[in-house]
Amino acid sequence: KEDAVPVITDKKTEENLKIAARELVETTNCVGFPTETVYGLAGSALNDESVQSIYTAKNRPSDNPLIVHISSIDQLKRKILPKDYEIPKIYEKLVDKFWPGPLTILLPIHEDSPVSKLVTAGQNTFAVRMPAHPVARALITISDTPLAAPSANASTRPSPTLAEHVFHDLHGRIPYILDGGACDVGVESTVIDGLVSPPMLLRPGGVSVEEIKTTGGKEWENVVLAKKTAGKMEAVRTPGMKYRHYSPTAKVVLFINCNNGKRAVKEYLDKNEIDSAHTKIALLRSRSFGGIKDIDENIDIERNLGSTGADISRNLFKLLREVDEMGVDLILVEGIDESNEGLAVMNRLSKAALETVNGADANGHN
Ligand code: TXA
Ligand code: MG
Repeated sequence: KEDAVPVITDKKTEENLKIAARELVETTNCVGFPTETVYGLAGSALNDESVQSIYTAKNRPSDNPLIVHISSIDQLKRKILPKDYEIPKIYEKLVDKFWPGPLTILLPIHEDSPVSKLVTAGQNTFAVRMPAHPVARALITISDTPLAAPSANASTRPSPTLAEHVFHDLHGRIPYILDGGACDVGVESTVIDGLVSPPMLLRPGGVSVEEIKTTGGKEWENVVLAKKTAGKMEAVRTPGMKYRHYSPTAKVVLFINCNNGKRAVKEYLDKNEIDSAHTKIALLRSRSFGGIKDIDENIDIERNLGSTGADISRNLFKLLREVDEMGVDLILVEGIDESNEGLAVMNRLSKAALETVNGADANGHN
């Protein structure tokens, strides 16, 4: 199935895909494109200048490596891997089950690898995934080029889940954005490293740890979760983890373990002497915080993240951006438990938040 070229029946879409593919092959510019997780910013992974243009457009620190996107295992073998090299057995079940899809694996960088050194940023591995979105797959197939692509946000901003978000952050900096509508998953891919023992989860994402443990085979039952944060000076296997991330302009405050949302919010506002008449406040609630009237009359904007993990993942970045655009000063967000989709959601939220209110610290009050 992974080798099938997606069928694009719409003439205009086909034309636009060809324009974007030509740009990637004939120039060193990068283009915005949809994937099922978040929008990406694509350039040839095999060309230094193309990759450099990605870092420049995003203003991304160049020691944070990029993911290589392929449209088939055949293409990965043909364009990147040494002759006769087999993908390590440890990935077999996971690749079978989750490709195409939101799973990224690390492979060793071989001598004479055609992958640009700017993609790997000094690591001896490269990250690779096969996206599921038909537009992404068509773009990679038509250009027949492995595409390096980080999320298409300006560095430090929430990842884009709509073409408008990419336009907002990068217009004037890139020639094209392919609009494929809203991203279905809404958070980035899960990054795993099966080259170390025990294997590691470097970034939680669209495939849950629970799914990896149950389908990956025996070795994956002991998968180790990488530390949430790393000091700036530390050598880390996932360099991305040390940077400020996913941040709106407004201050984000994350509420965890608060059974009584109304009281937790009120106590927070009182304790910090927040003059709500002069502070525009948004609340993103999910499962347990009540409606705006129940929470606090001082909250100006309220949005519901959703009740299922899939909904909350899909809405998270979009709603952070939406309330930020409305010019709020403060975004209060209700956290969720870290099972299934919750782990990736809380990973992104804890990086976006400047402050966390933990109800469990408040003498069990909240
Ligand atoms: O869903 C996704 O993965 C999206 C879409 C566009 O595919 N892409 C994405 O890329 O999120 P980016 O660049 O925002 O995040 C890539 C993550 C970073 O945390 C980076 O540090 C890690 O993958 N990474 C990439 N190459 C690595 C390597 N060789 N070793 C360890 N971590 C790596
Ligand atoms: Mg990113």
